[in-house]
Amino acid sequence: MKKILITGSNGLLGQTLLNLLLKNKEDYKVIGFSRGENRSGREDFTYVSIDIADEKRLYTALEKIQPDAIVHTAAMTNVDACEDDKKACDILNIEVVRFLADYCSASKTHLIHISTDFIFDGKKGYYKEIDAPNPLSYYGLSKLKSEEILTQSSINYTILRTILVYGFVYKMTRNNIVLWVRKMLSENKEITIVNDQFRMPTYAEELALACKLAIDKKATGIFNISSNTLLSIYEIAQQIADVFGLDTSLIKPISTATLNQKAKRPAKTGFDLEKIKTELGLYPKSFKEDLLRFKERFKENGSSLY
Ligand SMILES: NC(=O)c1ccc[n+]([C@@H]2O[C@H](COP(=O)([O-])OP(=O)(O)OC[C@H]3O[C@@H](n4cnc5c(N)ncnc54)[C@H](OP(=O)(O)O)[C@@H]3O)[C@@H](O)[C@H]2O)c1
Repeated sequence: MKKILITGSNGLLGQTLLNLLLKNKEDYKVIGFSRGENRSGREDFTYVSIDIADEKRLYTALEKIQPDAIVHTAAMTNVDACEDDKKACDILNIEVVRFLADYCSASKTHLIHISTDFIFDGKKGYYKEIDAPNPLSYYGLSKLKSEEILTQSSINYTILRTILVYGFVYKMTRNNIVLWVRKMLSENKEITIVNDQFRMPTYAEELALACKLAIDKKATGIFNISSNTLLSIYEIAQQIADVFGLDTSLIKPISTATLNQKAKRPAKTGFDLEKIKTELGLYPKSFKEDLLRFKERFKENGSSLY
């Protein structure tokens, strides 16, 4: 039985991983750390309400639990908010990772950390794990610095880099592209979507599976994980409309320049996915296949929530 700590257990990935690990209660004892009350809708794990930026409390909680592995999903994930409040971004996205790395070094704990395609500048696309990063935003820079803390340490770490994550869980505080497009179009509202940014969207269930495989195989190093389809965000919206049988003519293409966002976004990301196939045995699917699975689950469990 492995003791697995999930930071950010109230988040999209946090709850998705919680649900996956708790299917095997004989293999995993799960502990979740998040702010405020437990919003997962489950009671069959140990929940600790904690601000993980509070080092003293974090240390006390870690010492008490002594996990075998930590999956660190909590982060400041709003890209424009990171641009606005760099200090808060530094604390959560860099200093907390440094603290966890120190703890894992002393206790020999496996640390699984989640990173992003936003560490790249988006000029090339189909990035390999070994490609040179060049973040355009403060969020991307903070995530790159967090990676460097681990890659320059001697701890057992796994970095899972991912792209545009979507899914649904019991209660979520952040929207994502699939839920948002589905909701807007089903209310017959017109939406404008950029057609000059290209991504490989990631179903949260696949990302959670990558976390589980990293735990089980004690994988170390950096791994890319996303779907295997590179599409413009406009095309992503069109595929969502198609799968849910909604009106694609409500989707209007626009360019990034017209958006005037605080943080710069990379134009074309997407990953080379060979490493996760050969080393973790995870074979990413097309966006369409993942969307169809999402739709089935959504019909059964999500449509009353969102
Ligand atoms: N979503 C994407 O498109 C995407 C893309 C690439 C990489 N990633 C990375 O993937 C990881 C998981 O993302 P996600 O989409 O699951 O994020 P999320 O839904 O925003 O979940 C993050 C969770 O962490 C919690 N948290 C934040 N600060 C905390 C603190 N100080 N103390 C305790 N808990 C705290 C949040 O709590 P509250 O709910 O109370 O705010 C939230 O529940 C992140 O590292 C993110 O950078 C995400």
